[in-house]
Amino acid sequence: MSVGARLAGVRFSVPSKILTNADLEKMVDTTDDWIRTRTGIERRHVLSEGESATDIGMAAAQQLFSDGKIDKSSIDALIVATATPEMLFPSTACILTHKLGLNGVPAFDFSAACSGFLYGLSIAKSYIESGTFRSILLVCVEALSRIVDWKDRNTCVLFGDGAGAAVITATEDDRRIRSILIGADGQYQEYLYVPLGGTIAMSGRDVFQVACRKMTEAATQALADAHLTIDDIDLVIPHQANTRIILQVAKQLRIPEDKLFVNIQSYGNTSAASIPIAYREAELAGRVKPGANLLFVAFGGGFTWGSAVLKV
Ligand code: ACO
Repeated sequence: MSVGARLAGVRFSVPSKILTNADLEKMVDTTDDWIRTRTGIERRHVLSEGESATDIGMAAAQQLFSDGKIDKSSIDALIVATATPEMLFPSTACILTHKLGLNGVPAFDFSAACSGFLYGLSIAKSYIESGTFRSILLVCVEALSRIVDWKDRNTCVLFGDGAGAAVITATEDDRRIRSILIGADGQYQEYLYVPLGGTIAMSGRDVFQVACRKMTEAATQALADAHLTIDDIDLVIPHQANTRIILQVAKQLRIPEDKLFVNIQSYGNTSAASIPIAYREAELAGRVKPGANLLFVAFGGGFTWGSAVLKV
């Protein structure tokens, strides 16, 4: 077989501080019931003062190395998906090379909002299949609590902080990314954006509608490109933005509930980190078996979207 790209390991880290819906009831005019029924979210993790996105990104990546899963010296490049870098430069990726003891490897950030993990997989796959690199560390890290207006009930209840780290390696066998697609359309930028130095602005209903449509289209295309149908998929791990978006997409794609992984109740929307966090939780729950076929699908600000079919 030709060289392919394999998802070789995923770990995650979230801050220890938890903000429940009851906590939010004291901050804005909302209720636990409204948040649960409209979004599925029960609690989210948020950074404390003095903690940084880089800290949780590093903690996620370090687990890959400390578990003995990945040999640090094998990493050829480090890429970081984040909408919340701490500085304009150096990039979070550059800072992490030093903190992780990866000095010298090429490193850069990219921005694709909630589709960051899919964009990162696509970049890694291209580097690997072209023969440029054999092993890539992808860190998806978001400090959304720092760009949320905590007085705006329309947005502050939706998001959480978190980081996921994945290593993608070259493989010659069929446990690989079978298909992946990414897309973007800037005509929708006013539906969801963060001005420089500002906070998240969102037209929730518009995001909802386009998200359902684009996620369904992207997943349908990724399945077709992999020459598989939904019946061949063992587990679907969608971006965790809203349970109602996930259930709507699942309905359109005819995904049975037992093939769908949802953990938004515990984390809220962690943007680029949501799929790696969900993947690892699914793995720990015994729902990602070696050789399983998975479907990932994501959608985010931009708008951006992406979907992948992979055998793990
Ligand atoms: N608590 C109580 N009431 C609220 C809250 C809240 N936290 N937030 C909004 N409301 C009110 C609104 O003010 C409105 O009141 P009004 O009718 O008096 O004006 C009412 O609830 C209904 O508002 P809608 O916007 O119609 O509510 P909707 O059912 O559309 O749910 C939601 C809102 C949850 C934001 C939904 O539109 C959504 O999930 N959209 C997707 C947004 C998203 O996921 N963004 C994340 C980034 S993109 C991504 O990751 C895919």
